[in-house]
Amino acid sequence: MTPRETRDKEASRRVLVVDDEADIRELLDMTLARMGLAADCAGTLAEARQQLEQGHYTLCLTDMRLPDGEGLDLVRLIADRHPHLPVAVITAHGSLENAVCALKAGAFDYLSKPVSLDQLRALVRSAVDLPAGGEAMAPTKVLLGDSAALSQARSLIDRVARSQAPIHVTGESGCGKELAARLIHEKGTRVGKPFVAVNCGAIPEALVESEFFGYRKGAFTGADTERDGFFQAANGGTLFLDEVADLPLGMQVKLLRVIQEKRVRKVGATSEEPVDVRIVSATHQDLKALVDQGRFRQDLFYRLNVIEIRMPSLRECREDIPLLAKNIVARLAGEAGIEPPEIAADALVAMGDYPFPGNVRELENCLERAMALLSGTSITREDLQLNPPCHVMDAPSPGQLPLQEYLDQAERQAILEALQKTRYNRTAAARLLGVTFRSLRYRMERLGLKD
Ligand SMILES: Nc1ncnc2c1ncn2[C@@H]1O[C@H](COP(=O)(O)OP(=O)(O)OP(=O)(O)O)[C@@H](O)[C@H]1O
Ligand SMILES: [Mg+2]
Repeated sequence: MTPRETRDKEASRRVLVVDDEADIRELLDMTLARMGLAADCAGTLAEARQQLEQGHYTLCLTDMRLPDGEGLDLVRLIADRHPHLPVAVITAHGSLENAVCALKAGAFDYLSKPVSLDQLRALVRSAVDLPAGGEAMAPTKVLLGDSAALSQARSLIDRVARSQAPIHVTGESGCGKELAARLIHEKGTRVGKPFVAVNCGAIPEALVESEFFGYRKGAFTGADTERDGFFQAANGGTLFLDEVADLPLGMQVKLLRVIQEKRVRKVGATSEEPVDVRIVSATHQDLKALVDQGRFRQDLFYRLNVIEIRMPSLRECREDIPLLAKNIVARLAGEAGIEPPEIAADALVAMGDYPFPGNVRELENCLERAMALLSGTSITREDLQLNPPCHVMDAPSPGQLPLQEYLDQAERQAILEALQKTRYNRTAAARLLGVTFRSLRYRMERLGLKD
């Protein structure tokens, strides 16, 4: 490619970023730059209008609230004067009505604050036709860990990546389900093709179908142009259905059909189009239990769960904590352009004792906070601010009650929790508590816990 051609190509991949907060402009600018896209920034509606007149853009990202007007006005202006320019809005956290208004006014998508960079990248990728090949994707992290549990997960990921079978990834929150899904995509034959991650729980029910399957122009009020859905965006690649348990039942039926037929019909269309996507799904919930409760369709469950990969909790691979912590600190230091601090021995001990209910993500957050607060040259136990695990219930402390009463209460609480977790399956509850079924029945009788 000649320098001239390169420049033209770049000019055809400029993004207009409109936000009055300099920090957000900078964050978006940096993220876009890493994806090989140049950004022009505007802080006001007036500036944005001017830049739209002068420049040629492939995408516009705008905040909803601007000092001299509403982002919605910009969406309308673009829909009117630059109908081919996709525009996405950034809305305040939880203001769904705003997002819906923007979509109706012609925005092609929205992001809610605080902006998740992963979502931003997925949005940009689906809006801008980025060249195939790894360079557009943020490099996926390595799945670290030498423990048996993590090694097993890693080798399973490697083995299933080459197949086309649907994979269901389970595991607690923050234990690397999305990372596993990305690795499956990258190690498989679809690398270089799109990886589209969808948080099934984040899409308003009314929009689910059009988001997944796309819509034809005029399919509903506000559908001013034809739009592709996630399936078309992921065509040839992988569609990652995150938090799949949150899909409304009605949508589950439609999803099952598309997976079986490998064809989608846009909302408002009369014919179907073929799609070729590999489905990887994930949830932190017990999907089988939801099936039993009638909250998740069994037929869809069997379709999605052809192969299950269970990502271990951090508690199951405690021996990996030092390695993980060291890598996280090195990465954070690299991003901040500083020398990585040491991790003091007492900090390692504290991390080894802490249960990390939020798993690797919590470890990352806790180290990030520690590095921000760091006073010396090494991260100490104090810097970590690991709170002792709090108990779910407000149990009386020993001493407030006679010993026997206190013990009975604790026992009752433990049994009730185990029963709840196992949906009142006493055999399973007994196993969870580490007692025999007979012993559990005896204890329940003694404590007056009827069926
Ligand atoms: N074994 C690992 N090695 C390195 N990084 C990891 C590992 N496991 C998780 N991480 C990192 O921890 C963070 C959380 O992981 P991820 O987002 O994949 O979790 P998740 O299971 O999808 O969480 P949630 O249920 O909350 O969506 C990410 O930054 C991820 O890269
Ligand atoms: Mg996730």
